[in-house]
Amino acid sequence: MEVYELIEDAKEARSLSYSPYSHFAVGAAVILKDGRIFLGANIENASYPLCMCAERNAIYNAMMNGATSDDFMALAVVADTEYPCSPCGACRQVLSELFPHQAPIYMANLKGDVQETNMDELLPFAFSGDDI
Ligand code: THU
Repeated sequence: MEVYELIEDAKEARSLSYSPYSHFAVGAAVILKDGRIFLGANIENASYPLCMCAERNAIYNAMMNGATSDDFMALAVVADTEYPCSPCGACRQVLSELFPHQAPIYMANLKGDVQETNMDELLPFAFSGDDI
């Protein structure tokens, strides 16, 4: 897997963003161990809380095509930010449940900055189903 290519896929996803309210377009791409790639962009709504983030759309897109948590290899997210675009708190909670905690997450921006992280770093001490 080429990190650069996954980020390019995330940029392609970003071009599909529907963000007329924030004007902040985000793209994400998740690659499976079998090489398949699924895209997500943020999709907003006039009822603001209904906005859905790019990362969650990418993960849900993959799952709606049969992927399970075990299949995920890496995720890239990109936006036009000063620093590499960081997943929001809601996405961190969802990723914590669905995305392998040590799998790479590449945060990127349009300037070419890339920072690698993972869920262990992004959401330590996460609340999970084990706590219920
Ligand atoms: N957004 C994402 O898609 N991913 C993030 O991790 C940060 C926020 C979207 C949600 C909303 O459509 C816009 O960016 C502004 O918050």
